[in-house]
Amino acid sequence: MRQLSMASMLALSTCILCFAAFAQEAAPKKDTPPEASVWMRKKLDYSQQILEGIAEADFDRIATNAQAMRALGKVEGFVRGRTPGYRSQLQIFQDATDQLIKHAEKDNVDGAALAFTQLTISCVNCHKHLRESK
Ligand code: HEC
Repeated sequence: MRQLSMASMLALSTCILCFAAFAQEAAPKKDTPPEASVWMRKKLDYSQQILEGIAEADFDRIATNAQAMRALGKVEGFVRGRTPGYRSQLQIFQDATDQLIKHAEKDNVDGAALAFTQLTISCVNCHKHLRESK
């Protein structure tokens, strides 16, 4: 129960953050840094939490942060899933978070570690895709 409300609180704060980023994106200013880095910073933060969770076999921590990461990706899909390339990168990212949640729920630390590696690769590949499509 406690765990559930933690997760929903995290998801909620994630949504608020996303919509803040979205609101900014709707009114872009030329000389400010990319505003969406707000949610990318969040991804970095969740990744770190997940890694700590894996290192300590703290499955609640893994699941909570993977769920928050997943929620972030969902909103990202709505806001910026414009190009097919971006959408497929995002899909791989979402699949990795699904795997993380699944393994965390089964207390499977090896599976979670593998899924985390896949998640990391998906970060790298999406960024690579963005650089190449510039
Ligand atoms: C589906 C595409 C995609 C995936 C997957 C993705 N990113 Fe990003 N990332 C972006 C884009 C686009 C930017 C450029 C900044 C922006 O527009 O948000 C970015 C930029 C960043 C930045 C730089 C932000 C800044 O302050 O300039 C960080 C850090 C980052 N991402 C972390 C991550 C991490 C960690 C993951 C994986 C857990 C990840 N990203 C996965 C699309 C992605």
